[in-house]
Amino acid sequence: MARCNHAESQKHETLLTLIGVDVIRGKRQLLCNLNLVFNAGEFIALAGENGCGKSSLLTVIGGLAPLDKGTLLFNGEALSEIGLRKLANYRAVMAQSASTPFGFVVDEILQLARHHIIESPDNRHHIIGKIAEQFDITHLLSRNIQTLSGGERQRVFLSKAILQLLPVNPKDSLVGKLLLLDEPTSALDLRHQKLVMQQLVSLSNQGLCIVCVSHDLNLISPYCSRMILLAEQGCIADDKPENALTIDTLARCYHTQLNVIRNQEHDVFVTH
Ligand SMILES: Nc1ncnc2c1ncn2[C@@H]1O[C@H](COP(=O)(O)OP(=O)(O)OP(=O)(O)O)[C@@H](O)[C@H]1O
Ligand SMILES: [Mg+2]
Repeated sequence: MARCNHAESQKHETLLTLIGVDVIRGKRQLLCNLNLVFNAGEFIALAGENGCGKSSLLTVIGGLAPLDKGTLLFNGEALSEIGLRKLANYRAVMAQSASTPFGFVVDEILQLARHHIIESPDNRHHIIGKIAEQFDITHLLSRNIQTLSGGERQRVFLSKAILQLLPVNPKDSLVGKLLLLDEPTSALDLRHQKLVMQQLVSLSNQGLCIVCVSHDLNLISPYCSRMILLAEQGCIADDKPENALTIDTLARCYHTQLNVIRNQEHDVFVTH
C-alpha cells in the first residue's frame, strides 16, 4: 500500500500550530482548546460526526473565518497577520460544496487558480495540463463547469486548489505549503477515489502538508500518515491511523458501537 511516508527529514518542519483554539458557531462551542501541530509532508485525515465542527475548523485554519479563541501560527507567523495575497501562495482550501454561480469553462477556473503567480502562458498551460492529466479532467477542460457531474466537478475543484500551490518550477519543494480539503472524495467513484488518494500521497511526499476531512475512514486510512478524530471534547485520537482507530475511540467519536478489523499488515478496517 502506497502510504504517505512522511520522510524523517521533514518531520520537524512545523507548518501550522494551533494553541488553545476554540471554534464557536452561533451560540454553540463546537471544539474546545485544540492544541495541534501540523508538519511539512504530513497527510492528515480529519474525521468526526456530522456537525462536530470539521468544516468550521478548516475555514479557521485556512484564514477564511476569524479565530474565536486561541493562537494560530502559520510558518511561525500569526495567521491573522498574513495578507490574503501572500497567503494564497502558501495555503489552498477546497470547500465541502465547491461550486460557482457562473458558467465558467473548466480551463478558465484552473487558470484563475494561478492568477497570483507570475509565469509565462506556456508554463501555466503546461502545469494545468499536467494536473488535468493526473486528476483525469483533461477531457473536461473545455466544458462549462455547470454541466459537469458531481464527481467531475469535485475533481476540477481539487485540481484548482492544488494548482494554486504548485511552484512555477516543478522541481521546487512543496515544503511550507498547506492544502486543506473538505471531503474531496465524497462524490467520487472507486477508481477516482484511488487515483486521488495516490496523487495526494505523491504531493505529501514532495513536502506538501495536507489536511483532509473525510467520513470514509476505510478509504483514507491506508494512505494518510496521521488521523485525528474530533468530538466536542476536542481530539479523541491523534495518531497513525492503525493506532487512532480503535473500538473505544470510534465509540467516543461517533457515539455508536463499531467494529475494527486488522489484517496481518496492520491495515485497519472499520465496519458497522
Ligand atoms: N454560521 C453559523 N451559525 C450557526 N451555526 C453554524 C454556523 N456554521 C455552522 N454552524 C453549525 O455548526 C455546526 C458545525 O458545522 P460544520 O459545518 O463545521 O460541521 P462538520 O463537522 O463539517 O459536519 P459535516 O460532517 O456534516 O460536514 C453545525 O451544527 C452547524 O449547523
Ligand atoms: Mg463539513
